[in-house]
Amino acid sequence: MKIPNETIFTGDNLYIMRGMDSCSVDLIYLDPPFNSNRTYEAPIGSKAAGAAFKDAWTLEDTDDAWWGELAEKHPPLYKVIDAVGELGNKGDKAYLIYMAIRLLEMHRILKSSGSIYLHCDDTMSHGLKLVLDAIFGKKNYLNQIIWKRTHAHNDPKRFGRNADTIYLYSKTVKYVFNTIYLPYSEKYINDFFSKEDERGRYTLVVLTGPKTSKGESDAEWKGYRPSLSNRSWSVPKRLVNRLLGEEKASKMSITQRLDTLNENDYIVFSKNGIPRFKEYLKEMQGVAAQAIWLDVPPIAANAKERVGYPTQKPVELLKRIVLASSNKGDMVFDPFCGCASACPAAHDAQREWIGVDISPIAVKLIERRMREERGFLVKLNHRTDIPIRSDQVTKPSRDIKHTLFGRQKGKCKGCLGEMSFRNMTIDHIIAKARGGGDTDSNLQLLCAACNSMKGSRDMEFLLAKLKAEGIIK
Ligand SMILES: C[S@@+](CC[C@H](N)C(=O)[O-])C[C@H]1O[C@@H](n2cnc3c(N)ncnc32)[C@H](O)[C@@H]1O
Ligand SMILES: [Zn+2]
Repeated sequence: MKIPNETIFTGDNLYIMRGMDSCSVDLIYLDPPFNSNRTYEAPIGSKAAGAAFKDAWTLEDTDDAWWGELAEKHPPLYKVIDAVGELGNKGDKAYLIYMAIRLLEMHRILKSSGSIYLHCDDTMSHGLKLVLDAIFGKKNYLNQIIWKRTHAHNDPKRFGRNADTIYLYSKTVKYVFNTIYLPYSEKYINDFFSKEDERGRYTLVVLTGPKTSKGESDAEWKGYRPSLSNRSWSVPKRLVNRLLGEEKASKMSITQRLDTLNENDYIVFSKNGIPRFKEYLKEMQGVAAQAIWLDVPPIAANAKERVGYPTQKPVELLKRIVLASSNKGDMVFDPFCGCASACPAAHDAQREWIGVDISPIAVKLIERRMREERGFLVKLNHRTDIPIRSDQVTKPSRDIKHTLFGRQKGKCKGCLGEMSFRNMTIDHIIAKARGGGDTDSNLQLLCAACNSMKGSRDMEFLLAKLKAEGIIK
């Protein structure tokens, strides 16, 4: 069933996403725990008091079956995470397994025109980028946005770590993107728009483009032909359209368009008789936003939007993301929503939204923010159940083999060799003929060689044989 707009789930996002239909959301923003090895708690007395989450990881935090699932269904992803694990930090591996299994669901529920923004910091950005490449494909990587999170950060004996990283990937090569224009800096305005008349500040821009061409593009106008300077006419359409209306402008020749601009006092001639065009500051869209974001300030200590949530992000940041990568009416999804910066930003921009957070405090904060800051009167849909997919007839069964593979860390129980998922077979520790059941504790994985060596005998036999052959000690 379609999940209605303005829904907040309290629960683990993995199970909630597994209940969401494929291709059902347009934009995902996630700000997950960063693996920072600390616990975040909101100060007592703040609106968010009681909100806390742990951000230190051990392999106990991951479900053994996830590892087996990755090994079987996503070999490159499995290899990437295994390689990071080889660097020696078990916490990093556990964290990436936890993230990968969720990012796979995000990829599935995203529409083909959709995009995902993953907010992290340099603790794990390197590993997360490889995981994203493996899931979304390198060809769909778009940006590494650097957001200056704070003015200064005190980091003894190294440069202050004052920035976060936000990775942007699309699901396919056909995705929604609206260029965001930002105001010009004062310096740019002073340097570039240095002239002024009664219409305001302007700069002079040539009316020609590189390369000569024949015919209309080289028509003589007011004694000047562009080919004299190895160029051809390039007359701004936007302004002529505005002055005359699109239909009329489209029927005009280049010289008629130049006449129109000249009659409206948009043209200045240089000493050598070369015409140039007055580009007014107030008619410019601004500068297209780049990948380094220095202009979105952190939430000030006394800001109205601050609720005391330990890792709250400014709405302004989310607004830029929502406007760039979705259109009105689209569905925005935030699986680690906290006090839900993506949700209010989506609401403000007339998008639909769904948020999930494991902490029961989150929904209260979101409700309060919507009511107090936005005068939102309708009750939010608060859910604690797990939704059921409507685009799938049978529920996928979780395979015991996945769990065993994870539990044994990909190693055969006999020879202890690391094996690929498909080369492992399920074996009964106590043979069925001797009363051993299909229970979890009576099952193990053996490689094909060990399995045939063991036959229907017991483990003692196999281990003795492997020792005798010098395969294990
Ligand atoms: C870094 S905070 C997000 C902050 C949020 N962007 C904001 O501005 O308020 C991470 C959030 O993820 C939540 N969380 C951690 N594990 C989760 C899980 N498995 N499912 C859902 N939420 C989870 C935590 O409770 C925490 O609120
Ligand atoms: Zn073996």
